[in-house]
Amino acid sequence: MKLTNDVTEKLGIRYPIIQAGMAGSTTPELVATVSNSGGLGTIGAGYFTTDKLDQEITHVQELTDLPFAVNLFVPSDKLYLPEKVEKMNAWLRPYRRALNLEEPTVNISEEEQFNTAIELLIEKNVPIVSFTFGIPDGAIIDKLKQNHMKLIGTATSVEEAIANEQAGMDMVIAQGSEAGGHRGSFTYVAGDQVPLVGTMSLVPQIVDAVNIPVIAAGGIMDARGLIASMVLGAKGAQLGTAFLTTEESGASTLYKNAIQESKETDTVVTKVFSGKPARGIDNDFIHNMNRYDDDIPDYPIQNQLTNAIRKASAQNGDTKWTHLWSGQSPRLARAVSASTLMQQIIRHTETLI
Ligand SMILES: Cc1cc2nc3c(=O)[nH]c(=O)nc-3n(C[C@H](O)[C@H](O)[C@H](O)COP(=O)(O)O)c2cc1C
Repeated sequence: MKLTNDVTEKLGIRYPIIQAGMAGSTTPELVATVSNSGGLGTIGAGYFTTDKLDQEITHVQELTDLPFAVNLFVPSDKLYLPEKVEKMNAWLRPYRRALNLEEPTVNISEEEQFNTAIELLIEKNVPIVSFTFGIPDGAIIDKLKQNHMKLIGTATSVEEAIANEQAGMDMVIAQGSEAGGHRGSFTYVAGDQVPLVGTMSLVPQIVDAVNIPVIAAGGIMDARGLIASMVLGAKGAQLGTAFLTTEESGASTLYKNAIQESKETDTVVTKVFSGKPARGIDNDFIHNMNRYDDDIPDYPIQNQLTNAIRKASAQNGDTKWTHLWSGQSPRLARAVSASTLMQQIIRHTETLI
């Protein structure tokens, strides 16, 4: 087994290890450290304003000359149903009251923000862009490709992987159900649920169905996970939770500790925080709000409705009402620097293979 392949060649990196673009938790230091260690660092730009994205890219470019990626959320069709928002506001009132918070105004226009981000990535010569929550329009894909950018899509099923290939993505991430954070899904299965297929099942089935390189994601924390993914036919791995607890990550100490104190059985997939299914550590907010599962407004509405509650709770040093995204392998998370983590994975992989 070799560590250099289509993925390392196309992305211009030494090792097929990608740090997931974790919106809200990446820092320029984390991204640049991973790239400078031979992997691919990714700016999690999903929630950024254009100004913030501009600053972060400039900062990363100051810290590394090597390739890095920016991860964006593809806007999706959503419905703003005032009666649903009103109901949710009533259910959220006790939390807001306890934390002294006002009801927020909701803004659902993601499209404009996304299009401006695309223009900025071209202007700043960002070499690689990864997407989640769907596939951008053909015109955007063409424009990025004309600017020689490499594009990485996300799939949680074979059908989504084929759609990514057909749309012209250069490679696709197979995101298994173990994965921390939001499901990248953009199709539904029976009962209006998103696909939840484990990494070990998903990767070889996607590998058999597409010709573009596949990158495994979900529960991979170390050399064992990387090698296992490659045996299944993946050409690399994307790690989120493993980088979340590193020193350079933007996650708070409260959050990092919560992951390190968790067991493999502690996470659940829930829509209650954002309106989209995401895997995180179970807590009081999830327990209480899960009963309204059928009435949760779509992303990004629910995300905005719960945002201040989550922030205030975390600022109070309290994990009970905030999101704690984590994959299913928290016992393997280490509090080390990102360069140490990269070195350990690379060294151990080389020894094992
Ligand atoms: C805190 C956190 C935030 C995440 N945010 C994003 C994101 O903004 N965009 C994205 O494509 N994936 C995001 N993900 C999912 C990762 O891309 C990846 O699928 C996942 O981390 C893999 O599973 P693991 O956490 O077990 O390594 C996030 C994951 C975590 C843990």
